[in-house]
Amino acid sequence: MSEQPPAVEFRSVTKVFGKGADRHVALDGIDLRIEKGEIFGVIGYSGAGKSTLVRLINALERPTSGTIEVGGAPITGTSEAGVRRLRREIGMVFQQFNLFRSRTAAGNIEYPLKVAGWKRAERKARVAELLEFVGLTDKARSYPDQLSGGQKQRVGIARALATSPALLLADESTSALDPETTAEVLRLLKKINRELGVTIVVITHEMDVIRAVADRVAVLAEGRIVELSSTFDVFANPQATPTRSFVATVLHDRPSDTELARLRDKHGGRMVTVDIDDERGLGAALAAATRADVRFEVVFGGVSTLQDKTFGSVTLALHGSDDAVDEVAAALDRRERNSGAH
Ligand SMILES: Nc1ncnc2c1ncn2[C@@H]1O[C@H](COP(=O)(O)OP(=O)(O)OP(=O)(O)O)[C@@H](O)[C@H]1O
Ligand SMILES: [Mg+2]
Repeated sequence: MSEQPPAVEFRSVTKVFGKGADRHVALDGIDLRIEKGEIFGVIGYSGAGKSTLVRLINALERPTSGTIEVGGAPITGTSEAGVRRLRREIGMVFQQFNLFRSRTAAGNIEYPLKVAGWKRAERKARVAELLEFVGLTDKARSYPDQLSGGQKQRVGIARALATSPALLLADESTSALDPETTAEVLRLLKKINRELGVTIVVITHEMDVIRAVADRVAVLAEGRIVELSSTFDVFANPQATPTRSFVATVLHDRPSDTELARLRDKHGGRMVTVDIDDERGLGAALAAATRADVRFEVVFGGVSTLQDKTFGSVTLALHGSDDAVDEVAAALDRRERNSGAH
């Protein structure tokens, strides 16, 4: 059985900018395999190397060492003609939309079709289809200045899809948008993935974006991938320090150290934080506490779902005799993998 080539594959890719004192390692030993049909998220702080990674995929930059394949074809060392062919297979969506101000929405979407040599009638039909797909049929004749940010980005997305690329790269495509418009654009990206089967690479510094659309995510820090996992696992069980800080920006289910100190002052008792997921509810543990005559208060926490699975955590203050509290804390601790009594 022959295995399908991945949408994108990086093998030991390093990218170094500058020389001597100016030398900067933007990407350092990247091994990465993005499967066809997935929405793959890349998250990292400013300067982590996210845009460099995208620019390597569409050959705007060449790696200093290592190899890159797109759709099974190596792009390292290809000719200019090869690169042009490759780019036809890749759509690109930008943070600042990059629309021609002097062209209408329809004109912007039509542009790549002109470049690709499509005939006029075919171009018109394709533009109409794309405008409908992104919900902008009524804005065909509007100029970018007459469109909202979300509408401009939908034009940008339609333009990126014009020649039916197999791969769409979205570099901070929602960073200039308000939360509601962001959600709308992210829904559109999901629709493109599910209905058209386009593989999408979403670059962002916002964990909310990852949570909303990504099937899997790589966390990039100082040019290295420090964590790569399903979006659920990254949220439910973050390992690397940068991952934990990203997750903490959107999940407020675990008290920080200062919050914990405040809670301890306020409630007294023994503080225990327990993870909740599909397999490990809180019911049995709390029933055991009641049997042992340990009183508990829920003082912090949150439970939600992601990719149809439950996850979260709650912090309890336990009150009772030392022995009984020890026992209940230990019982709660035993049902834990990563957290326990404080
Ligand atoms: N053409 C270049 N010449 C020199 N250094 C560069 C070049 N492009 C990027 N860098 C450096 O490489 C590092 C990674 O840059 P990159 O743009 O990939 O980061 P990023 O993760 O996209 O950041 P941001 O979130 O701010 O967009 C940065 O330190 C940057 O200054
Ligand atoms: Mg960037």
